[in-house]
Amino acid sequence: MVVSFFSTHDFDKVYFDRFNKHHDIRYFETALTEQTAELAKGSQAVCCFVNDKITEGVVQQLSKNGVKLIALRSAGYNNVDLEAAKAQDLPIVRVPAYSPHAVAEHAMALILTLNRKTHKAYNRVREGNFSLERLIGFDIYGKTVGVVGTGKIGETFCRLLKGFGCKIVAFDVVENKALITEGVSFLPLKDVLAQSDIISLHCPLNDKTKHLINADSLKSIKQGAMLINTGRGGLIDTVAVIDALKSGQLGYLGIDVYEQEENLFFRDFSESVIQDDVILRLMSFPNVLVTAHQAFFTEEALSQIAQITLQNISDFEDGKALVNVVK
Ligand code: NAI
Repeated sequence: MVVSFFSTHDFDKVYFDRFNKHHDIRYFETALTEQTAELAKGSQAVCCFVNDKITEGVVQQLSKNGVKLIALRSAGYNNVDLEAAKAQDLPIVRVPAYSPHAVAEHAMALILTLNRKTHKAYNRVREGNFSLERLIGFDIYGKTVGVVGTGKIGETFCRLLKGFGCKIVAFDVVENKALITEGVSFLPLKDVLAQSDIISLHCPLNDKTKHLINADSLKSIKQGAMLINTGRGGLIDTVAVIDALKSGQLGYLGIDVYEQEENLFFRDFSESVIQDDVILRLMSFPNVLVTAHQAFFTEEALSQIAQITLQNISDFEDGKALVNVVK
């Protein structure tokens, strides 16, 4: 099957070429938009990533160009207009699970770095500064951690926290029974936010979770709490979070995702003037750590993403049931 890849990075080529046996892959660096959808002409499938916005217009263009399948090489599908895809009879397949450990471990890395300031210590020591001034952290042991969303990643993250000796409180629309037997307490969201020293978001972005962390909910968090977001940028209202950081209500912020990330992430702007004042303000805080959507970025996860995506495409070509179709 001819498959057009959009938003391709070098690492995509390495992993997809390693596992691809059956398909004719055409790699494009550009994102998928109404204008670039034309590039998919002659392809039966397109393969997209997290910041390709698959709008109604894009879906119509793809359909007009003969595309029969949209294969996402991601778990989240908040970037797809599902109604529009359904109207054009275009199935969407995704990679629902690929190393939840990769993302859970990155959330833990954000917590440990923000807390123990290893990023600052690294630079200091390299410059011959062995002072401990302002590097003080706190014990993670015994702290209360609030986990919002206890699916595959949230569940894995809870088990990491248990190893650290944390008390875990959680919120999910569907309580995770396995975690309850392991001692995790499920509470209403407002109680999770109020009780937690560290809050970590692991739910999908949808109409119900958009700006889950906003000016109102930030009022109910513990003074000086840490907020970690490896879910999707739209889960938090960034402007409200900046206000909470300025007032000290929020003590630390660690994010791997950002609401406007499609204009920045996965590209090198080191020689440019960045136009996004919100992210620049965020990066000016000493207690904020931003990574550029790299939580998934491990050998294991990339291998699984490539294999599952290629299998999804082969299943479609062979007329088999699409086990990873987005319903
Ligand atoms: P999952 O589907 O296994 O779990 C999501 C959980 O969120 C489910 O238990 C669901 O019931 C819960 N949920 C749904 N609506 C909710 C709400 N309104 N409030 C609270 N909980 C709610 O998904 P998985 O694999 O754990 O991934 C979670 C999210 O992590 C993805 O949707 C994606 O946005 C993000 N992600 C980020 C990556 C990164 O590199 N930063 C990589 C992979 C996923």
